[in-house]
Amino acid sequence: MMKGVILAAGKGSRLYPVTKVIPKPLLPILNRPTLDYAFDQMKACGITDVCIVVGENEQLMREELGDGTEIGLYLSYVRQTDPQGLAHAVGFAEKFVDGDDFVLYLGDAIYDQSLAPFVEQFNASGAANLNLVKEVEDPRRFGVANVENGRIVKLVEKPAEPESNLAMAGMYVFGPEIWWVLPQLKPSARGEYEITDAIQLLVDKGEVVVPGIYEGNWFDTGTLDSFLETSSFLAKGGWVVDESASVNAEMSGMVVIGAKAEVNAKSIKNSVILPGAKINVLGDIDGCLLGGEVTSEQSLSAEIRHGRVQ
Ligand code: G1P
Repeated sequence: MMKGVILAAGKGSRLYPVTKVIPKPLLPILNRPTLDYAFDQMKACGITDVCIVVGENEQLMREELGDGTEIGLYLSYVRQTDPQGLAHAVGFAEKFVDGDDFVLYLGDAIYDQSLAPFVEQFNASGAANLNLVKEVEDPRRFGVANVENGRIVKLVEKPAEPESNLAMAGMYVFGPEIWWVLPQLKPSARGEYEITDAIQLLVDKGEVVVPGIYEGNWFDTGTLDSFLETSSFLAKGGWVVDESASVNAEMSGMVVIGAKAEVNAKSIKNSVILPGAKINVLGDIDGCLLGGEVTSEQSLSAEIRHGRVQ
């Protein structure tokens, strides 16, 4: 049986202070919790049993998502005690996976194409691991894969001089071989146990590791820019205003306003207002992610706020 493991233990510190109040995996993107997009993908892949690796957000995550009945999945949780990298995080799910094959999904990734074909590709390949990869312009901020004759032969995490433009795109399918190499991992230069290094160990041991070439759109929602870019893509660049929200502002470009939010401003563009927010801004709002009560006599630009602005 194919299982699912979603890594969602991160603090979301690049979206503070909003993610101090709302755990990053629950932060609404187009008025749906970020993890809903992962759940959709799991279901599309025919997966029913999903383990979420949580961190300090454990309690809020359990309260919000429960056992998954409402979502249509069997959800369970394991806690990564201290953050030491993706390979460290996945280690906590070993008991849950219990020797089965599994899809590993980085919780803040969003794809606009189904990942189901990649699970099928893995099943047909007999490989120890399939990695979703995507051609990107600047691969230096990703894990980078070299592919020869349909196999991944080398992987480097965030190389200064990438040998290919195929970035590791946040979704992996593993057989049980991964558990044999995890204990041999050493921390990387950034002090983390890297999933990329674990996969390199599989390659070094002669295991078959294959790429799944993804050609759709892929978003990593972890920064303000990428969060707004993802929202804009999903909102098709227009406005998505919940009908229970009240808006007194000129709107242009992408604007997403959550349920029961109240917004008073001169204008608002390219911004997301979270459900229940009370926003009173005398000037313009541009490129912002706002929640809670935000009051300002000035314009807000490229701000992340959850509370009063002095
Ligand atoms: C992680 C992985 C990297 C991958 C990226 C995809 O990087 O280590 O290999 O390309 O996710 O988003 P991180 O976001 O932890 O810097």
